[in-house]
Amino acid sequence: MKILVATEKPFSKQATDGIAAIAREAGYECALLEKYTSVDELKTAVADADALIVRSDKVTADVIAAAPKLKIVVRAGAGYDNLDLAACTARGIVAMNTPGQNSNAVAELAIAMMIFMARNQFTPGTGTEISGKRLGIHAYGNVGRIVARYGKALGMEVSAYDPFITDPAIFANDGVKMASSVAELYRNSDYLSLHIPATAETKGSIGYDLLMSMPKGATLVNTARKEVIDEAGLAKALTERPDLKYITDILPDTAAELAEKFDKRFFTTPKKMGAETAEANVNAGLAAARQIVSFLKDGVTKFQVNK
Ligand code: 3PG
Repeated sequence: MKILVATEKPFSKQATDGIAAIAREAGYECALLEKYTSVDELKTAVADADALIVRSDKVTADVIAAAPKLKIVVRAGAGYDNLDLAACTARGIVAMNTPGQNSNAVAELAIAMMIFMARNQFTPGTGTEISGKRLGIHAYGNVGRIVARYGKALGMEVSAYDPFITDPAIFANDGVKMASSVAELYRNSDYLSLHIPATAETKGSIGYDLLMSMPKGATLVNTARKEVIDEAGLAKALTERPDLKYITDILPDTAAELAEKFDKRFFTTPKKMGAETAEANVNAGLAAARQIVSFLKDGVTKFQVNK
């Protein structure tokens, strides 16, 4: 059996060594394809792979067609919008993610981004403090919950909304106020931290109206996905409201235009770095390798996302 680790954005050496060790112990081969620049390289590499570990790498129907032996693909991370699940299912390939394994890294970045914007992107001048401000968490999953906890530790007043959580006790137990709707959450958040996945329902769902409803001086923080933002609506809101700010870890399609027009009210990392910590690489990478071994040896399908 051969496990291919195909990561355009490589894991740390500690993580790839750990993955190789898990494969070796199971009696499997492990191959590495890093920093590849074309889909063809990926297609060539998957030709003899039984299992595949990726990060945000796109596993399209085309890639799957080039992998006749593939039995399992694991997205080492949370969001699996980069996997063509229908193509996996059609071929009987199990698709999994590794939920929670890189959440702390992303949550820490979200908090860092709030402080960075509150302090004028670390340029001279008087900034503000995030303590005492209202923090809204949009989607209360693994990352959202940690951001809520850190926000509370920093003295923020935390509210959250999650379309799939209707039991107020889940929020109450964490000392978090449950917002009754997305609209209510945005209306009452000085900082809004996005943690929704990119799905057919969420794509382009955060735009002009929600941004315009936010309080004076509000900041939208996106460590989730660029696709959930309606960039035209965002630009319109930033134009009409000179007090609003947007910071993102996922390069917008219109990044150059946003940077030019909105200067210190907009910031983007050049390449998604939320999960770029040694710890997150090891947690997610090793979890992916272990999930593959458990599946191939014992048929364990925990964390399968294409059931
Ligand atoms: C995730 O969904 O787990 C994060 O967006 C991290 O993505 P990455 O592995 O490409 O850094």
